[in-house]
Amino acid sequence: MRIVVLTGAGISAESGLSTFRDPDGVWMKMDPIKLATPEAFAADPELVQGFYNARRAQLREVEPNAAHLALARLEKELGRDFMLVTQNVDDLHERGGSREVVHMHGQLRQAWCRACDARVEWNDDLSSATACPECGAAGHMRPDIVWFGEMPYRMEEIMRTLDTCDLFVAIGTSGAVYPAAGFVEIAANAGAETLELNLQPSDGTVFFDSHRHGPATEIVPAFVDEILGPA
Ligand code: APR
Repeated sequence: MRIVVLTGAGISAESGLSTFRDPDGVWMKMDPIKLATPEAFAADPELVQGFYNARRAQLREVEPNAAHLALARLEKELGRDFMLVTQNVDDLHERGGSREVVHMHGQLRQAWCRACDARVEWNDDLSSATACPECGAAGHMRPDIVWFGEMPYRMEEIMRTLDTCDLFVAIGTSGAVYPAAGFVEIAANAGAETLELNLQPSDGTVFFDSHRHGPATEIVPAFVDEILGPA
């Protein structure tokens, strides 16, 4: 069985990382237009760098949870019949054991040099003075995050896999942001079964064949046990 899993901020919530649109979410406290767009970065680079520096530093304080671990088990058993696409920019899937993670919105632990186009692993603060480790140019490093209005990464690969999968599972995502929110319809139109694993019905819940609602640390391991048998 070929499975595509799409995760969102909800899978990392129980690890202690805030989601975006829950009542205590990031976008409930700060304006995404001022922090997560190319225009915001051009207008006030230090404000935007500071926002991502804080989120990058927070990665050192959190651990993957049972849902991340369960998906790593699913990848290990299914191999090439499994694709994990995440909207998350944290590294909890990797630290939970996943080896192939498609970060369609980029990653906090990568920086992007706009002078030489290099993408480099980055775990510290970034500022406008930061010099690129590849080309040495200073003042051209930005977080390797896909901002609103920018094209998500690896879309062709994702679309091809959605067209040929048997089961599409969305975990911990509100279905509020495209193109990720449209993946369920693409998979369904290609004949796949679709399943929503979420704390509560998402904006896109009507598009799913079946739903299981509850905390990811409970419903994701239970789902994986159903597919593979108990761990
Ligand atoms: N277990 C399962 N689901 C949860 C949990 C939990 N413990 N806690 C919250 N959720 C669910 C919420 O019910 C909500 O549906 O996770 C979802 C989180 O939704 P959002 O905060 O909108 O996050 P996400 O869907 O990942 O946002 C998509 O928007 O801001 C952009 O680029 C950003 O990748 C992000 C994208």
